Amino acid sequence: MRKTIIAGNWKMNKTAAEAKAFIEEFKPLVAGIDSVEIVLCPVFTALTSAVEAAAGSNVKIGAQNIHWAENGAYTGEISAAMLKETGIDYVIIGHSERRQYFGETDETVNQRLNAALAADLIPMVCIGELLEEREGGKTESVLDTQLKGGLAGISKDDMAGIVVAYEPVWAIGTGKTATPEMAEDTHAYIRKVLTEMFDAETAEKVRIQYGGSMKGANSAELVAQADIDGGLVGGAALEPASFAELITNAC
Ligand code: PGA
Repeated sequence: MRKTIIAGNWKMNKTAAEAKAFIEEFKPLVAGIDSVEIVLCPVFTALTSAVEAAAGSNVKIGAQNIHWAENGAYTGEISAAMLKETGIDYVIIGHSERRQYFGETDETVNQRLNAALAADLIPMVCIGELLEEREGGKTESVLDTQLKGGLAGISKDDMAGIVVAYEPVWAIGTGKTATPEMAEDTHAYIRKVLTEMFDAETAEKVRIQYGGSMKGANSAELVAQADIDGGLVGGAALEPASFAELITNAC
């Protein structure tokens, strides 16, 4: 049985003080929910205060990126050890904004993923097609390439603990959500590719989040689909009450 995982991706929003204030307000709203793993992913400078504010609660903290090297001349990047030191448990890898604006590729996703696994961070690996790719009938081949490149060389054991986030790029921040049926079709396809790459037992263990305009009004319907195991949420995770509602509806 896969446990639902819902993560808030705050992107470049919220200072450390704002993150702390959010978590103080948010914790009581989700206290007692144990059927959903709840994760918040603030900016790097807010990680320590977020971990402190969430301590002892069912709210876990993750980062939005990780570099593969242990240290060195990589201006603007951050290593696994540096992230671990803050006390976080999760990390987002290969978000479409990183791919689009910062040149990330399936190869760098794979390198970052290996660094996260070596540090025992739970990776949320993002994949997803552009609008023109969906309209051109290329969704499956795009996802196939992203999965085979990003997850190359990963062991079955490690794969079972990796979270895959399917985020159709055309649905991110646009208010356009994939219909639950459309999302489910794609999630089932992703699990089929994972079965081919690894095996059925491993693929059954992998949690696949949906991302792209998930909100309180659609989280229940999306998470009710057989192969949708949670969400990666941007805009609707920025306000404590609405994010708590989204999670509660998905329970
Ligand atoms: P959105 O973003 O929920 O604002 O569409 C999702 C994401 O980019 O992870």
